[in-house]
Amino acid sequence: MTATNTATTKLPHPAHRMPLIGDLLALDARRPAQRFAEHAHRLGPVYSVKVFDRDLIVVAGPGEYAEVCDEKRFGKHVGFGFAAARENFGDALPTAYTTEPNWSKAHNILAPAFSLAAMKDYHETILDTARELVDHWDASVGQGLVDVHTDTSNLTLEIIARIGFGYRFRSFGGGEPDPYAAAVARGFAFVGRAGYNIPVHWIDGIVRHRAIKQHNEDVAYVRGVVDDVITARRLDPDPPTDDLLALMLTTADPESGEHLDDENIRNQVIAFLNAGHETTSGTLSFALHLLATHPEVAKQAREEIYRLWPPGTDPDPAFGDIHKLKYLRRVIDETLRLWPIAPGFFREPVQDTTIGGHPVATGQAMVALTFAVHRDPVWGPNPDAFDPDRFLPERARTRPPGIYKPFGTGVRGCIGRQLALHESVLTLALILHRYDLAPEPGYELQVVEEFTLKPAGLRLGLRRR
Ligand code: HEM
Repeated sequence: MTATNTATTKLPHPAHRMPLIGDLLALDARRPAQRFAEHAHRLGPVYSVKVFDRDLIVVAGPGEYAEVCDEKRFGKHVGFGFAAARENFGDALPTAYTTEPNWSKAHNILAPAFSLAAMKDYHETILDTARELVDHWDASVGQGLVDVHTDTSNLTLEIIARIGFGYRFRSFGGGEPDPYAAAVARGFAFVGRAGYNIPVHWIDGIVRHRAIKQHNEDVAYVRGVVDDVITARRLDPDPPTDDLLALMLTTADPESGEHLDDENIRNQVIAFLNAGHETTSGTLSFALHLLATHPEVAKQAREEIYRLWPPGTDPDPAFGDIHKLKYLRRVIDETLRLWPIAPGFFREPVQDTTIGGHPVATGQAMVALTFAVHRDPVWGPNPDAFDPDRFLPERARTRPPGIYKPFGTGVRGCIGRQLALHESVLTLALILHRYDLAPEPGYELQVVEEFTLKPAGLRLGLRRR
């Protein structure tokens, strides 16, 4: 969060900027990133928005986006939604300042657990959990439409909880929802509201008074549960050794030789449950919507899946099989181009510098607007069309570098990328093998933002093949 900087006042900004409230009326609190992209059509690749004394530079052109990813001049900015999330996650990976010792300590300890090779250790758990989703959907066949995003969210929350901390929410078991899962979900929604909005705390304090009270109770409850999990682990004479919690409790940072303290481990657990699930569930939901509305793409993906597991068999994917599903992987890549679940990421100059030729001061808040750049004409004549073959290597080579960044950039880019891709490809393979997907008649995609992008009210019909 930055007080208005004189250099930014020279940048284009939305029409009718008002004294005091600035551009407040030109923004859309329910779909802030999408509104930023709409402004970029009129205002160009770099512009400013201002609300009261806070201002933000929006970087929406491909050249300038590549420039703001230059790690020598720019780094991550922990502001806006991330500042709000920091109240929950403290110095966990997503919300730590890069200069904080706990960021590099946790990064060094956890990065090996997220390598491509490490996915082998999680493969069976991911497969078992994806099968639970498919079993749950089997029970819905012929019973009407499935609520896609609720089920993909349950799936990805289960996966990260199981491989991360040995915790089971039993999302597909029926019965009452786990109170912990309910508190976590309310927490996501609360933090997500801050997202890409420019915060005005005194207005929030009045309008969201009750939600803030509920949120504080949820945070205390979730922290208590996680603290109990950590204590139980420490007391366990024969604790699991193969999950993220075990790694954090037992491994020293190879650089400093230090361990993470318990408060930081608790923050990481809560942050992983959050960062590790809404993102992948959104990816799966959008991919399912696009596959249902593009039957020719679904057909091609299914042909590839059937080459490994012919129709009528029960797929039993081995770890290495997932990497053979190259067309399905292009479906995911193209889904994340059109609907980058994180529609932007925040950056700041680490020295006084320029962006697109405009001066910017050290620390100035900026958003690299992935959502706009991923649909720029630089992608070809019809950038809004769903065309997975854009990601064929020979076509990818014809594009300028640095314009596709659904997982962020540089040292603060996504640590969970391989996990997200592995679970997405595997889950889609099981679903497409078993079902024909039918869009709900009359459904029109509406994209809501709660930090991440989500397809509102998405339901699909399933027909067992
Ligand atoms: C398709 C799914 C995903 C997308 C699109 C995504 C996107 C991103 C983006 C854009 C960032 C950078 C944020 C910034 O610069 O401020 C990020 C960071 C991060 N992501 Fe993901 N993510 C996904 C899945 C996951 C998963 C599955 C996990 C964990 C299990 C995860 C954990 C994290 C963490 C811990 C960070 C912070 C890394 C750091 O700053 O050191 N993400 N993610």
